[in-house]
Amino acid sequence: MPAMIPLDSAALPPFAEAAGGRRSGNNGVFWFSSPTPLVVLAPMADMTDSAFGRLARRLGADAVFREMISAEALTRGNPATLAMAAFVPEERPIILQIFGTDSAMMAETVRILDERLDPDGFDINMGCPAQKIVGNFNGSALMREPAVAAAIVRAMKAATTKPVSVKTRLGWSRPEEILEFIRVLEDAGADLVTIHGRTKEQGYAGTADWEMIGRARQAVKIPVIANGDVIDGASARRCLEITGASGIMIGRGALGNPWVFGEIHAALADQPWTPPTTEEKNALILEHARLYAERWGGDEPLVTFRKHLIYYFRGTEGAKRWREQAVAVSTMEDLKNLLDTI
Ligand SMILES: Cc1cc2nc3c(=O)[nH]c(=O)nc-3n(C[C@H](O)[C@H](O)[C@H](O)COP(=O)(O)O)c2cc1C
Repeated sequence: MPAMIPLDSAALPPFAEAAGGRRSGNNGVFWFSSPTPLVVLAPMADMTDSAFGRLARRLGADAVFREMISAEALTRGNPATLAMAAFVPEERPIILQIFGTDSAMMAETVRILDERLDPDGFDINMGCPAQKIVGNFNGSALMREPAVAAAIVRAMKAATTKPVSVKTRLGWSRPEEILEFIRVLEDAGADLVTIHGRTKEQGYAGTADWEMIGRARQAVKIPVIANGDVIDGASARRCLEITGASGIMIGRGALGNPWVFGEIHAALADQPWTPPTTEEKNALILEHARLYAERWGGDEPLVTFRKHLIYYFRGTEGAKRWREQAVAVSTMEDLKNLLDTI
């Protein structure tokens, strides 16, 4: 294990310091204790930063999963990694997702994050199929190494009083693999498991297999959150009916559409839902951009925000034209001018 460099208080980005009040005070009530199905935001690298987490919570997400961070980078003392994990109180309950393969390093990561940020829970990435992650025996590679996966869960549980959850897929190549793997995770002490209903080999192809998530749920006593292809109220209802899960996690369906959480809650409560007007949509895009610029700074803070704009314009009338203009947006002024023309 590399030498540990203490991450001193200077390492937190100003936005997180300014928000203050970093103690969770969760009194042992776990973030997923809820009588009704949870609707949570999925961890998405480069997308679910603090700005997006805030909007998702405000618009109805019951919890936020921060994008994955590297245990190796954090225990090496990389301040940028700590900054990626930082959040503001409005995002609570917030669960920090960690990827890694060395259980001692994963436990040390939990201790650092608990001490510096005090999140509401920790999640282990056992589902990412990206080659640079899998090649280092991280992410979905852990599905093929149940003993290593179990050791990580045990070590992280021993390092914190917060719940430790796992996010995984159905298997490496066969969907049935989850039926065995989820029991390994439960036996090791995982408090909750989120299952993306595809195998590693599938990547994002085909459709999520909600039936298999339902079978996996029945194989264990711990709560299971279903993930994959939930994009609106109707798919949320179907997914919950088929899986019988304790909740659903929304990824791509929330990009450019953080209102999806309100829509889903309305559908689950049999309430009518009114989509946002163009004015409301534009106001939220500006608010998102403002929070994003506050978070990431720089003279042209919105250059990297274009990835979100493209999602906001997806499916709208004249989307192609807006997309072309979106890739020229660099500042708040540019964005205001563009939205004024819509
Ligand atoms: C851009 C992007 C980044 C992602 N990053 C992560 C990640 O950091 N950790 C993780 O566990 N899953 C990650 N995922 C997977 C999602 O959390 C989710 O499991 C997947 O997109 C399926 O759900 P969906 O159909 O609702 O999008 C990512 C997905 C996308 C599209």
